Amino acid sequence: MPDFANFDTRGYRTVDVHSGYADWVSTYLATVAELMDIPLLEALRSVPWASLSSAADLGCGTGRTGAWLRGRGVAAIDGIDLTPEMLAVARERGVYRRLVEGDVAATSLEDGAYDLLTVCLVDEHLPELSPLYREAWRLAKANGLLVLVGFHPHIIMASGMPTHFRNASGEQVAIETHVHLLSEHVTAALDAGWTLVEMRERLVDDDWLAVKPSWERFRGHPLSFAFVWRKPSG
Ligand SMILES: C[S@@+](CC[C@H](N)C(=O)[O-])C[C@H]1O[C@@H](n2cnc3c(N)ncnc32)[C@H](O)[C@@H]1O
Repeated sequence: MPDFANFDTRGYRTVDVHSGYADWVSTYLATVAELMDIPLLEALRSVPWASLSSAADLGCGTGRTGAWLRGRGVAAIDGIDLTPEMLAVARERGVYRRLVEGDVAATSLEDGAYDLLTVCLVDEHLPELSPLYREAWRLAKANGLLVLVGFHPHIIMASGMPTHFRNASGEQVAIETHVHLLSEHVTAALDAGWTLVEMRERLVDDDWLAVKPSWERFRGHPLSFAFVWRKPSG
């Protein structure tokens, strides 16, 4: 699998996920994240959001996805994240039934309890995908859906840019970033038992460039992707 170090054009100091998001949380730019995943979530045709009564949002961060899911009628949403500072913001939103500090690959959530699992903009921080797909499988009910949205591996490699933020002293700091090819997602998901239902990709477009004009050279490149997986019954 590709090693991000071979693409890194920035050479920023790199920190682990917990220290990075704990530091970034106060200035975390929701607008950037929203342009990556919300258009993809809205484009999905195979997910009957309003009829899904329970969801677990893995790597829920500040709760953007939870808020979107509530707006779509998903009744009970649990969230899990490694970073307590992100969970504190999610808690203030008041959209989650339960928020738990923990790892997406080994949650303490109940077996077979959820109609829907969501994982938005988390996979680039995971060294391996298989533990995530296996854990999501354990949590899903029969016929349950897994919606995973990620930062596209193409743009991570083409831009050589890790997930990063500017800290209080003005230093650009990278958060541990891994490149996962789409084939790696497919292999990990199929090995765990998931069936592919839908896949979409979003390109760098005018909406993105209005917020990130310096990305003009990437116009038309794949920016993010969404998979919808189903846990077959029986
Ligand atoms: C870019 S944020 C996305 C948060 C949220 N899903 C969203 O779309 O707004 C990435 C989040 O993933 C969390 N994260 C990364 N690796 C994780 C892991 N192994 N287990 C749990 N959370 C993790 C981080 O703490 C951070 O809150």
